[in-house]
Amino acid sequence: MDRIIVFDTTLRDGEQSPGCSMNLREKIEVARCLEKLKVDVIEAGFAISSPGDFESVKTIAGAVKECTVASLARANTKDIDAAWEAVKGAADPRIHLFIATSDLHMQYKLRMTPDQVLEAASTMTAYARKFCSNVEFSAEDATRSDWEFLAKVISAAIASGATTVNIPDTVGYTTPAEMRALFEYLRQHVKDADKAIFSTHCHDDLGMATANTLAGIQGGARQIECTVNGLGERAGNTAMEEVVMAMRTRPNAYPYECRIDTTQFARASRTVYSIIGQSAPLNKPIVGRNAFAHEAGIHQHGVMANKLTYEILTPESVGVSTNNLVLGKHSGKHAVDDRLKALGYTLSREDLEACFEEFKVLCDKKKVVTDADLEAIAEHRAVVSESADEHGYRLDWFSVHTSNFTTATCTVSLIKDGEKFEDVCLGDGPIDAAFNAIDKIVKPIEHSFDIYNIHSISEGKDTLGDVTIKLTAANRTYTGKGLSTDIIEASIVAYIKAVNKLCAATAGQKESA
Ligand code: KIV
Ligand code: ZN
Repeated sequence: MDRIIVFDTTLRDGEQSPGCSMNLREKIEVARCLEKLKVDVIEAGFAISSPGDFESVKTIAGAVKECTVASLARANTKDIDAAWEAVKGAADPRIHLFIATSDLHMQYKLRMTPDQVLEAASTMTAYARKFCSNVEFSAEDATRSDWEFLAKVISAAIASGATTVNIPDTVGYTTPAEMRALFEYLRQHVKDADKAIFSTHCHDDLGMATANTLAGIQGGARQIECTVNGLGERAGNTAMEEVVMAMRTRPNAYPYECRIDTTQFARASRTVYSIIGQSAPLNKPIVGRNAFAHEAGIHQHGVMANKLTYEILTPESVGVSTNNLVLGKHSGKHAVDDRLKALGYTLSREDLEACFEEFKVLCDKKKVVTDADLEAIAEHRAVVSESADEHGYRLDWFSVHTSNFTTATCTVSLIKDGEKFEDVCLGDGPIDAAFNAIDKIVKPIEHSFDIYNIHSISEGKDTLGDVTIKLTAANRTYTGKGLSTDIIEASIVAYIKAVNKLCAATAGQKESA
């Protein structure tokens, strides 16, 4: 069996895509999930791109012990210096530098000749190697590059000390047959090819990222670059869970090993979706709600007779709960703790206490508390509880009046440091009215309202509504989440949390304004 190195770029290629930005705390939460998944390499960000990115790469580098931590850098000294500064505290740091090699990119984006690109690849790899023994070189847009030139650039990078060479399908253009042939060609024509690990990095523009990644492995790649849920630029990157489960499920076709703990997939997927305020498409392979559901009668009949009729992998193997035991108001803290552990959440005493309180409140509102409800409660606790909340506003009560023939009104009462604040506002619907009333009380600095996302946690009319709100001010995003069987309450709580963070981060600006 050949060993495949799993390189995760959820925090870089995933996070840089629209609507997927994360704050530091959220990134750390994702990094923890990646460590539990046992990925080999975490690409924690692009250190030079902003002070926030630099800080998060540095923090993750210091926090992660079990994985290599990489930062991306363009092939110039400033980028490489910043990348090294950010990752040098890691147990196993890596600098990942890149430059484009396709005619299109060289001519129109870089405005460099092929010789200049070749020179930069070589000198900048050597520059990175002065700091770090673990250097990855990527040839951006490799799959649309001239193969002979690409082989020259990769040879130069290896000669200058690159330990991993990455062949990205930057625009998701290649096909499986072409990808395999390209890797076979490079393995034959690159000088000292066996001195470096070859890597794939695919995008999903034509829906072929998983197939292309597997084809790359067949052609000789021994590192795959991927993201949780396939997050990433445009149509996304290769979904880690798909490639890994293809290898585990079809070992005859793909006789390769990796160290991923597949039972962590469901948990990691939930965390990432929860942070970006989305939920998995129902039919998403491995992590979608329907991935293991058998609705059609003929399928149900087959599965009852023998699971293998329609099931090629088990839900348990990817951490999806099949437990039918329901928890209710008579369940104790131990039962809740046991269930949470089985779902992949080991909570501190304080977090368990808070989750149990929320669980009891929910038991009064909902007949059956499902695993999905418990996961949502634990997820909110993990991602949302922030220090800004302790000193910020919290909801006391609200009252709305709305109809389809009058303007909605909402009165909100908030508490901060023991003091009560009450105001009322009109709005275009009850949620807008509530947000306007909150704005009147809190008076946050000017910001854009980027995302309002709501989805149901389970089936049924009494389902929990899960609301995510993202606000942006001065290029920083502030996320708030709310969870309640009442979607107006969930929205108000989410908005207050986002506004609290905005106010905590911009307190000085408000005073001087
Ligand atoms: O898609 C791509 O080419 C990249 C590189 C920077 C590795 O993300
Ligand atoms: Zn990419």
